[in-house]
Amino acid sequence: MPIAAADKDAVLAEKRARFAAMLARADRVAAFTGAGLSTEAGIPDFRSPGGRWSRIKPIAFEAFLADEEARRESWRRRFDMDDEIRSARPTRGHMAIASWVQAGKCPAVITQNIDNLHQDSGIPADAVVEVHGNTTYATCLDCARRYEIEALRAPFLANGQAPRCDDCGGFIKTATISFGQPMPETAMRRATELARTCDLFVVVGSSLVVYPAADLPRLAHRQGARVVIVNREETPGDRYADLLLRGEIGDLLEEFVL
Ligand code: APR
Ligand code: ZN
Repeated sequence: MPIAAADKDAVLAEKRARFAAMLARADRVAAFTGAGLSTEAGIPDFRSPGGRWSRIKPIAFEAFLADEEARRESWRRRFDMDDEIRSARPTRGHMAIASWVQAGKCPAVITQNIDNLHQDSGIPADAVVEVHGNTTYATCLDCARRYEIEALRAPFLANGQAPRCDDCGGFIKTATISFGQPMPETAMRRATELARTCDLFVVVGSSLVVYPAADLPRLAHRQGARVVIVNREETPGDRYADLLLRGEIGDLLEEFVL
């Protein structure tokens, strides 16, 4: 084996051992996940080459409110994602994180993901803090009534009209947070509290470029938590990390099932 590759393996082995020691020593882990955690489940991320934003432009919340065609396009995209979302299963990374919750080490997982895979991995819904919402159901923007995606599909495919609320006529939108849409206050408060009170903050699969969520590693670092970033690429948050595990999330985390 060429020397460089042997060195690389040795460095990675040493980093894995350090992460294992950090996990063992930690009492209050805060996991913070992004789209990179779900790519192994067949759900593309946003900013990798070929990621969602390299193929389509995000629909801003303002456009969704103002323009019927934007609402239709938003719903077309959602129903086009159906197979991807319905066939996705929790990955090796999800299962490792779920084991930290089950072991009582991680009181809750903060996620930017909208795919419900943390809940599907067995983490109780009240221990999943969704800062960008959830795409597996929809709500009326005026009266907050909940709608199941299943019930909205047939009428939309039949008439192409963006769904309106049966009770109040308001616009129905997937329960996700679009650019320009106010962040879910309760979720953000909980996420900030978790970052402020953890002793180990583990970022998994995020480019850490979308604020305010991307500020959480800095908050954790500032209060003295150890910060670990598990990601294929560099991120602006790397400067707050005590340890960087660079590579494929599934390969890196599958051994860290507690
Ligand atoms: N293993 C390791 N890293 C991976 C893998 C993988 N299998 N797949 C992707 N990644 C990394 C990418 O290199 C990238 O740095 O995961 C990161 C994903 O970054 P983004 O696509 O920007 O996703 P995310 O950080 O979750 O985006 C935040 O942006 O558009 C909004 O609301 C959307 O919640 C999303 C937010
Ligand atoms: Zn309504």
